[in-house]
Amino acid sequence: MTNRIVVLVSGNGSNLQALIDSCQTGRIRAEIVGVISNVPHAYALERARLANIPTQVIDHRKYPDRAAFEAEMSRVLQEWQVGLIVLAGFMRVLTPAFVNRFSGQMINIHPSLLPAYRGLHTHARVLATGDKMHGCSIHFVTAELDAGAIIAQAITHVAPNDTLETLTQEVQELEHHLYPLVVAWIAAGRIALLGNKVYLDGQELQDPIRICL
Ligand code: GRF
Repeated sequence: MTNRIVVLVSGNGSNLQALIDSCQTGRIRAEIVGVISNVPHAYALERARLANIPTQVIDHRKYPDRAAFEAEMSRVLQEWQVGLIVLAGFMRVLTPAFVNRFSGQMINIHPSLLPAYRGLHTHARVLATGDKMHGCSIHFVTAELDAGAIIAQAITHVAPNDTLETLTQEVQELEHHLYPLVVAWIAAGRIALLGNKVYLDGQELQDPIRICL
């Protein structure tokens, strides 16, 4: 079932594009069966349409509360018989009830080396602190924001002349390599979550898989 992927988006969708491309080349042996956006005019929707992937706009502003919004998302996910939910720039916090319902089936990409810099504005915070290393993390989604078990990280060195723009671009390039790789592993049944531990090929990961590109 992990070969039926639904991607949740809110914006540009460059990570979605990387996943679409990898499915098309066969690098990911799975199908993106649908894309859900909570933002009606997100460019990610256009990317999905160009790839002939079904799309659904579920505008959170049209629902009385989070539970109603998520009930509609659950309905669509169920209709599409989702195996793996991939959050790719999806800018809504999900309730514990929703997260628990899809435990072990939902992953997110975050632009920092978690557990450092949960939340927003990660690149600016890295520059302000003067960190030498930065990158992105892919983790299973749990009720606590950006705190689920980490599967993999890609790392870049922060150069003295890096700016918000260069760092943003570098980390996005890392994301576009790392997300397809991890999704391919999950689709192949190589990665699983048991309790709050990540297993790769049946072995518990002591640390996230780290890739320096
Ligand atoms: C990425 O940087 C991701 O880490 C963060 O949101 C951004 C989404 O970019 N969660 P895109 O929409 O995939 O281009």
